[in-house]
Amino acid sequence: MHDSTRPAPWTHVRREANKAVLYKDLARDLEALLLGETDAVANAANAAAAIYHTLPALNWAGFYFLHGEELILGPFQGLPACVRIPLGRGVCGTAAAERRLILVPDVTAFPGHIACDVASRSELVVPLLRGERMIGVLDLDSPELARFDQYDQSGCEHLAGIIAAHL
Ligand code: SME
Repeated sequence: MHDSTRPAPWTHVRREANKAVLYKDLARDLEALLLGETDAVANAANAAAAIYHTLPALNWAGFYFLHGEELILGPFQGLPACVRIPLGRGVCGTAAAERRLILVPDVTAFPGHIACDVASRSELVVPLLRGERMIGVLDLDSPELARFDQYDQSGCEHLAGIIAAHL
């Protein structure tokens, strides 16, 4: 008999299935939105808007692009953000320098986290790679602690691949 004081085991199964559908639909919508347009700013702007208005519980979604040894703010949705981030600084600069996705369940526990919006509690930063070249990062912030999980990680990696191919 299931213990009613705990979440039913099928609750998280359903949530994971819903997330998979959410990311599948968003990937399909993004492909359609970016198809045939070659302007990088327009595509990054539309991608940021589509992500921000589709994924729940975000307070910031957008891009930083690599210019030499620093990241520079690109199109985004959310509050105004810091414009330049040196490689290796903050979550974005660390993800870019190490060319790896970084999932931060609690931003206060990440040394050097750069707080652009004090409401941000958790963050997911995904490198944008075109072939071997790192062109920038996709940055998502949430006002909820531990908002992002392994399903967001793989879903956003897939989205980043689609977007990078259209920048
Ligand atoms: N928190 C980021 C800075 C960018 S904002 O979240 C939009 C960081 O630590 O790199």
